Amino acid sequence: MREDPAIDYRSFVDARAGTVDRRIFSDQAIHDEEMERIFARCWNFMCHESQIPRAGDFFLNFIGQDSVIATRDRKGGLQVFLNSCRHRGNAVCRADSGRVKSFLCTYHGWTYDLEGKLVGVPGHKSFYHEDLERDKWGLVRAAKVESYKGFVFATMDPETPPLEEYLGPVGRMGLSMAAAHGDVMVVDGVQKNVIGCNWKLAVDNLFDWYHVQISHASAPLSGYLPKLPYKDEDHIVALGEYGHAISGPRTTPEIRAALAGASTAVPLVDERWRDTPEAMAALGPVGVASRGHPNIFPNLWIASSGVQLCLRIPRGPLSTEIWWFTMLDKNMPEDRRRASVERMNHTFGPAGILEQDDGENWSQSTLATRSALARRHPLNFAMNLGRGEIVERQPGVASIDTHINEHAQLWTYRAWADWMTAKDWPALKCDHAMPTGVV
Ligand code: FES
Ligand SMILES: [Fe+2]
Repeated sequence: MREDPAIDYRSFVDARAGTVDRRIFSDQAIHDEEMERIFARCWNFMCHESQIPRAGDFFLNFIGQDSVIATRDRKGGLQVFLNSCRHRGNAVCRADSGRVKSFLCTYHGWTYDLEGKLVGVPGHKSFYHEDLERDKWGLVRAAKVESYKGFVFATMDPETPPLEEYLGPVGRMGLSMAAAHGDVMVVDGVQKNVIGCNWKLAVDNLFDWYHVQISHASAPLSGYLPKLPYKDEDHIVALGEYGHAISGPRTTPEIRAALAGASTAVPLVDERWRDTPEAMAALGPVGVASRGHPNIFPNLWIASSGVQLCLRIPRGPLSTEIWWFTMLDKNMPEDRRRASVERMNHTFGPAGILEQDDGENWSQSTLATRSALARRHPLNFAMNLGRGEIVERQPGVASIDTHINEHAQLWTYRAWADWMTAKDWPALKCDHAMPTGVV
């Protein structure tokens, strides 16, 4: 069990004033504690099941800053291990993805099977005299591995609640948006790049529709994207326990029809899948109408209306690795598939017209959290503060109907403070912000 923190993390986030202390974006000690208190305890997205369909398929990912292997064992079970040999700690897997029969450490040759068991030790008889108890020296396994609608998550904490409970209605709705595009699979080739920013500033931007007209002015000016017909006065926010949230504009059948007919350099995502009974059954009225971006706390962004996933992987307080997964229906005709992949590559990701704008802003914001003078002054998240009424919707999730706002951003930081304060899962369960009332 972890001791109560010496630092008062709640003092960094003032939910009444709507401010956040800049030091949480660049302080090394706070960053290190995030690895323990958030990433080592939460459900972390590993991969989609379509990436590891057969025994021995693997995909390398991270839990905080620890490299982990997500793989499928011979019985079809999902396994997640720390990618670190139990002898001297060398990585036992160097490729980003592939298929293996076992994991062979390239240092001295210890070999682990697909369940992480140590099955091969050179010199076991002659050098270890068979004293080494191999069953005690398997790879370190995740405490739990679970999948929701094909999205595989792992946690290192045995006290973490079951995945569905952790996700709650808002997290489940977010993943359901990603699962609603047919028989989905992840396209080969996850795009990866590094941005010099704190991971939380990248996360809070995904709810930010205030910046779009300014930061991304070049996309419609260039003709690459049309000026989207959403209304700034008509937004929906859904806040979930443990920090999950969805926030963004409302879409209607009329807007979807207009977008489907828009002529652009590359085709837009056809949003008319929302007009089906299946979509209503899976998402309810709030989910069908919400064109906002979901975030599964802490760092899984379900982007572009569910056809791209983005992980924001911390690489230290001042650096974030951004991973883009593109998801498409397996049965999509080849010409549409090509056009869709092209659109994904040129919207977000390292070659995307939008993320280049964003990355510059996040870098500058991060730099101004470490300089002696600027860091004395908190950041402002007070837009619409005290005016967001959370209303229960039946059926479906509770939501706020409002204009462009910063409710989900502030909610993310409130949840961050809860996670950082709680000494263990029982404490977090009974002491975290609940999405009720007026925010
Ligand atoms: S470090 Fe892996 S076998 Fe020695
Ligand atoms: Fe942006």
